[in-house]
Amino acid sequence: MLLRDFFIHLSENQLLNSAAQKYGLKLGAQSVVAGTNISEVIQSIKELNALGISCTVDNLGEFVFEKSEATAAKEQILAVIEAIHAEGVDAHISLKPSQLGLDIDIDFCYDNLREIVAQAAEYDIFVNFDMENYDRLQVSFDLVEELSKTYDNVGTVIQAYFFRAKEDIEKFKDYRLRIVKGAYKESESVAYQDKLDIDLNYIDLIEYHLLNGKFTSIATHDHNVIEHVKRFVKDHNIPNDKFEFQMLYGFRKEMQISLAKEGYNFCTYVPFGKDWYGYFMRRLAERPQNLNLVTKQVFNK
Ligand code: FDA
Repeated sequence: MLLRDFFIHLSENQLLNSAAQKYGLKLGAQSVVAGTNISEVIQSIKELNALGISCTVDNLGEFVFEKSEATAAKEQILAVIEAIHAEGVDAHISLKPSQLGLDIDIDFCYDNLREIVAQAAEYDIFVNFDMENYDRLQVSFDLVEELSKTYDNVGTVIQAYFFRAKEDIEKFKDYRLRIVKGAYKESESVAYQDKLDIDLNYIDLIEYHLLNGKFTSIATHDHNVIEHVKRFVKDHNIPNDKFEFQMLYGFRKEMQISLAKEGYNFCTYVPFGKDWYGYFMRRLAERPQNLNLVTKQVFNK
């Protein structure tokens, strides 16, 4: 737990975030970040598509407190949408409302999000709203709901560590949802702290949404959960086109490929961009064994 807190603390350090932006991918981040620009990420997507894997693309970005930065992020995401369409690759968008101005001005953020969702809708590209920390949860859900009044290419994420997750999933039962365990450090007044409680709630939420019949993205590297889902869909005759497994770029690559080969829909979350540092630190927080990736990269030059 101490190590997790340490890496989460590092992920939130703005000075280190800004310093990291000045340099290319370092510290082994290139194993889990698919490049720093659009042509590199398109190349990575093509390689995954060739293995029968679809992608969700995340333009990395944290700590956006200036409108100019949020506008630049929006322009970059619009350019990614254009590139997905122009290159005909199998990919959709994942985004974080805080990168588009959530912490600056809600109307400004809404306008940015609407522009992105509208552009993606033109090309029939789905846009998933990643979920961030608890303080941003309700306002992000509100944005998703508001946009989905006009657009049907919007979905979001349910984080199983929150006590309120079941209520939220019931509210969003008609949406395409990604279900995750939850990545941020949250207070014990709002979130389960115990891994077993989180895992049990995670399974419960996945089963609920699968039985509901709406498309479910099961985003986990946990082989026990994946095996459970395989049995569950078989027992309940849930067809493969109603769900997919998702994992992060660079994690459990063999398993990603073999799930796709077994005939399951598989989608890799592909982060890219200069702002790789906070993302990378959160991955180390979740799984300090990922430090192995770092040491391998640093020493196997
Ligand atoms: P967890 O970390 O609980 O590990 C369970 C077990 O799986 C481990 O004990 C180990 O046995 C095995 N395992 C895990 N990783 C492994 C590895 N790399 N190699 C070998 N074995 C491994 N969070 C959030 O708050 N908001 C969001 O929007 C998202 N979005 C998102 C998208 C996608 C595609 C993924 C995969 C994850 C997210 N997350 C997220 C992160 C998520 O909430 C969670 O923090 C991480 O996925 C870690 O939890 P897991 O379920 O993967 O396994």
